[in-house]
Amino acid sequence: MAVINVALAGRSYDVTIEAGLLDDLARRAEAFLRSFAGRKVPFVADTNTHRLYKEQVETALSMAGYSADWFVVDPGEAAKSWAVLERLTDWLLAMGVTRSDHVFALGGGVVGDLTGFACAVMKRGCGFVQIPTTLLAQVDSSVGGKTAINTAAGKNLIGAFHQPAAVLIDPLVLNTLPDREMRAGYAEVLKYGLLGDAEFFGWLTQNGKDVLAREPAALSHAIAASIAEKARIVAEDERETTGVRALLNLGHTFGHALEAETGFSDRLLHGEAVALGMVLAARYSARRGEMSAADAARSAAAIADAGLPAEITELGMDCTGARLVDHMRHDKKMETGTLPFLLLRGIGAAYLARDVELADVAAFLDSELGL
Ligand code: GLY
Repeated sequence: MAVINVALAGRSYDVTIEAGLLDDLARRAEAFLRSFAGRKVPFVADTNTHRLYKEQVETALSMAGYSADWFVVDPGEAAKSWAVLERLTDWLLAMGVTRSDHVFALGGGVVGDLTGFACAVMKRGCGFVQIPTTLLAQVDSSVGGKTAINTAAGKNLIGAFHQPAAVLIDPLVLNTLPDREMRAGYAEVLKYGLLGDAEFFGWLTQNGKDVLAREPAALSHAIAASIAEKARIVAEDERETTGVRALLNLGHTFGHALEAETGFSDRLLHGEAVALGMVLAARYSARRGEMSAADAARSAAAIADAGLPAEITELGMDCTGARLVDHMRHDKKMETGTLPFLLLRGIGAAYLARDVELADVAAFLDSELGL
């Protein structure tokens, strides 16, 4: 078992990683279940996690005399909407949830973001516990308190910083995760190495295949190391005001443009877009003379070796660099000729560049697209 503390004044919490934790849920979540004596415990899930884990969770709770009630959403981003938020908050009110209660989010990033935001506004803030069931949610979205829904204007534009009271991770749940989603989550694991921990990146180049194969020791180590890096960053800059937390967005500006161009669809999952975005950030850093070509090539090789897209031409897009840059401008709601960009001075050394000319980025992307 590994326990990582997210150290925040007055809002510190532990992330617990333990194979088999779900079977031991009543003991691990005891402090957050206590207020429900004689009442049902609210669990939010999607149809997949509900089908896969309802029985296991209910059996574990029953050992301590608790029972659950379930709010189940369809899988996918559509659940992060005003309409579903309204239904969820009405349901929580009907259940009599108070500010001292904790709501349990059992699922991937969608379930966690939706539940966290509902709890941020429920009676001006009730508690919640994250039980993430995808690798991406385990190493990224469940930790750090970013909660949000989507609107017609864009993704995650309505939300709140609301930290969970605990994050409970059972790596065994990843055994049912489709391989493609496992790889997409692994992109965020590689991100932690690339952005701030060259040693971890080196370890991943040796052990990544075991992580992807869900070999227990390698997987638990990768999850714990990723969360330790995220906890360090969040503790330093919880609300992303100093530029430190922005480092977690490595690969995301390029990645977002690729997601927008492919219609935010299954054609390119978020983690896949981040993977290719990191390759582009590394190559663009090399083009600016800030990262060696050899390190940029090592970054791309680690991503390709994991079965993630490492060449923009793999996506079969019919577009130009200027069009991708337009998506970036739109994402950041900026019409200027420059944007802040996460670039690399080497493996494990990301930094926020503020002098990037978008015309130069467009020319770089044209060359990557073979134009
Ligand atoms: N996923 C980026 C962050 O938590 O800041």
